[in-house]
Amino acid sequence: MKEFTKHILVTGGAGFIGSHVVRRLLTNYPDYRVINFDRLTYAGNLENLKDVDRAPNYVFVKGDITNQQHLNKVFSDYGITDVIHLAAESHVDRSISGPMDFVLANVVGTVQLLNAAREYWGDFQNNVFYHISTDEVYGSLGDQGLFEETTAYDPRSPYSASKASSDHFVRAYHHTYGLPVRISNCSNNYGSHQFPEKLIPLIINNIVQQKELPVYGDGKNIRDWLWVEDHAHAIDVIFHTGKNGETYNIGGLNEWTNIDLVHRLCVILDDKLSRPAGTNEQLIRFVSDRAGHDRRYAIDATKLTQELGWSPSIRFEEGLEKTVDWYLANTGWVNHITSGDYTKYYEQQYALRKS
Ligand code: NAD
Ligand code: DAU
Repeated sequence: MKEFTKHILVTGGAGFIGSHVVRRLLTNYPDYRVINFDRLTYAGNLENLKDVDRAPNYVFVKGDITNQQHLNKVFSDYGITDVIHLAAESHVDRSISGPMDFVLANVVGTVQLLNAAREYWGDFQNNVFYHISTDEVYGSLGDQGLFEETTAYDPRSPYSASKASSDHFVRAYHHTYGLPVRISNCSNNYGSHQFPEKLIPLIINNIVQQKELPVYGDGKNIRDWLWVEDHAHAIDVIFHTGKNGETYNIGGLNEWTNIDLVHRLCVILDDKLSRPAGTNEQLIRFVSDRAGHDRRYAIDATKLTQELGWSPSIRFEEGLEKTVDWYLANTGWVNHITSGDYTKYYEQQYALRKS
């Protein structure tokens, strides 16, 4: 049997970002065994990995990170040497209607995972526990400024509060027990395989289906968008060359108001769907705002760029077009992933926003 040099537990590997991380590890590091541990919630989908799931260095385990016994067994069965932790409830709107799922998965689940690593690794030789987090822990910016690694935490949604809490636990396990941890906080990702409740795939799919395009509030909220494969690359770099106990911000200096972004997608898709110019814009609807909606996020990734040499690889216009092409070519994926209760859930939420 092949000797692997690392046995990496990737949690949430069947989700959007996790599937890109798993693919990158399997492809670039055949000497590592990748154990993808995922509960397969509505957001997790093994189809996301169907192009690589026969790799000899890939293992999938269905499981819940809140289950301490199962985690302990997986660490021991697979001789886990490192963790890249992405599993989480990730959608802000869902955290507003149901915060407890976020406390369980994001806070309790992270602490259970920390416990499993601490117990199995003992005196921590060359292990890495890498926790993937979000820029939302820093709160909301005014017109000026960028989030830095030293920006004080100010989470304002149940989602960001749960992620901030998990970040604090990860740091606490480093300071209290010496667990070799590192954390990164990234801005909004976009690209293939993103569940179509998030802004970019939602707008693309609604345009395709000629459904209304919900824009929250005045549409002037700003997000800083990063190509998901650039995030996966940053995770690779931080995993291999980052320092224990450190935090790294990840972002692409790519700020867009939501309404400008929605307009841009309308134009791209008028062209790709051969609709007369201006057709898709008629679908835009300003609807009631998200409660507590953060106004602006923007990341300063200087530390990651200067210390570890990472930079984004692709311009937004190109990434957006590739993303649109992927969704147009993968309507089967979209139909399958939304086939359960999702469409009904979405229609109910949308009706509430319009009323
Ligand atoms: P996602 O919702 O697409 O995927 C989450 C995955 O975690 C799914 O496969 C799901 O099945 C799994 N999961 C959820 N609860 C679980 C549990 N209790 N046990 C095991 N598996 C569980 O999320 P994403 O957008 O890929 O985000 C991944 C991580 O990156 C999250 O930690 C998120 O906070 C963080 N992040 C996301 C973004 C973004 O723009 N999407 C930006 C910065 C950070
Ligand atoms: O910043 C990183 C975060 O980005 C991640 O930690 C989260 O997991 C991820 O979901 C994302 O959070 P956002 O809330 O910024 O993403 P979302 O796609 O839900 O919304 C982007 C913006 O678009 C936000 O200002 C709300 C707005 N929006 C969203 C939806 C779904 C709309 O105007 N209409 C919509 O229908």
